Amino acid sequence: MLICPSMLSASFTNLGEELAAVERAGADCIHWDIMDGNFVEAITFGHRMIAAHRKLSQLRFDAHLMVVNPERHIKNFAQAGADVISVHAEVCKDLHHTLGFIRLLGKKSGVALNPATSIEILEYCSDVLDQVVIMSVNPGNSGQSFIASQLNKILELRKTLPQSVEICVDGGITDQTIGDCVRCGADSCVSGSYVFRSQSYVDALRKLRESCN
Ligand code: DX5
Ligand code: ZN
Repeated sequence: MLICPSMLSASFTNLGEELAAVERAGADCIHWDIMDGNFVEAITFGHRMIAAHRKLSQLRFDAHLMVVNPERHIKNFAQAGADVISVHAEVCKDLHHTLGFIRLLGKKSGVALNPATSIEILEYCSDVLDQVVIMSVNPGNSGQSFIASQLNKILELRKTLPQSVEICVDGGITDQTIGDCVRCGADSCVSGSYVFRSQSYVDALRKLRESCN
């Protein structure tokens, strides 16, 4: 199980330090929540933020694009050094083409699905797909409660997707919810507030790992 802290919950006055701290604590990958004030209400960071931090870490960078017209931004995030780029299926005009384009740029392709979006939208995309991000909260904010109905989605996807496609769960991940995600077949989990609001990032990551068993 890969644990991916989300920088959305880190201290914005100290992002470089925060990144180094979760890396030292044993994070497997760094999740960047890109919000455009349109697909979701909030505005967070753009590709330059990823480029600036790319120099500080060798960890996998996942860019979760919560933006409309994601096609316009993919090249910038690829050049900035994101390793995985996930777009929301709800706003992709031509999902298969967009995923293929991400791969063409040498990156792993991801699709994020809102809680109310059915997995049927992924049919005929598995040949260009590396990761599915199951949103277990509605996108836009950290610190929300896990939506348990999404566990079914993980189960269904694990049955239907090729084993090579990674299933990532994003939102409301704590030591209480991560175990169910693993048991249903998740390969990675994003954790924002649980990790960054803890007293010790080492303890938080250890507790999450222990709860996977
Ligand atoms: C929500 C974001 C999540 C968020 C998770 O829109 O996509 O990645 O940062 O935060 P927690 O873990 O606090 O739910
Ligand atoms: Zn996210």
